[in-house]
Amino acid sequence: MRLDKFLADSGFGSRKEVKKLINQGSVTINETTAKKPNAQIDPYQDTIAYLGDPIHYQACYYVLLNKPDGIISATEDREHETVIDWVALDYHHVDLFPVGRLDIDTTGLLLLTNNGQLSHQLLSPKKKVPKTYHALIDGIVTQDDIEAFDKGLNLGDFTTQPALLKIDEVDEEMNQTAIQVTIYEGKFHQVKRMFEAVGKTVLQLHRHSMGPLELDSELAIGEYRELTDREKQLLIPYGLIDK
Ligand code: URA
Repeated sequence: MRLDKFLADSGFGSRKEVKKLINQGSVTINETTAKKPNAQIDPYQDTIAYLGDPIHYQACYYVLLNKPDGIISATEDREHETVIDWVALDYHHVDLFPVGRLDIDTTGLLLLTNNGQLSHQLLSPKKKVPKTYHALIDGIVTQDDIEAFDKGLNLGDFTTQPALLKIDEVDEEMNQTAIQVTIYEGKFHQVKRMFEAVGKTVLQLHRHSMGPLELDSELAIGEYRELTDREKQLLIPYGLIDK
């Protein structure tokens, strides 16, 4: 790949800006000062350094975001802040996109990546990747609801895969129920529509897990971090191949 692309992809600025760094003699290729922005390098074999510090090339990024309320799961939008704007300070040089969508008012686990193959596999209906949500429901969730979710609900345009609904806590006074639900597909507004189908309304929705990825208490709402090596390993069956 070209040296200027390598530097730009590694967060050293635009192609124009990295050209300046090269012209200033700040960049070396295998300890020899680089002269040409279009020099061909092998990001995995050659040692590229800026002011003597080697740069470790990363082709794919995996960012785990605990999405806050009020931002949208898109790459760009004229009206609302997006999840990509949210992490832009740290990842302006990477073309990240969200793996699937959470509604604007849904919080919780959202993976951002630039690995299209992984995203495709995690979202493929064939893979039936489980997604677990914690929710607060207006109304008292019943055993009948659990059975209806388990059978699959007819939502008009499709019938859902069997979903696992668990009651965490019932508040009779407030007429509310805290629940967990695991679904195996990811249609638009799916959890909200499933509760609507049994006559109830979702008041709060928070995604706790997607496939092998889980949110832990270390990552507060709004915070994000890159996946650990262990988490990346867990995604290998979903097509994560990385150097
Ligand atoms: N189901 C919903 O209704 N909304 C979400 O954001 C995710 C799943």
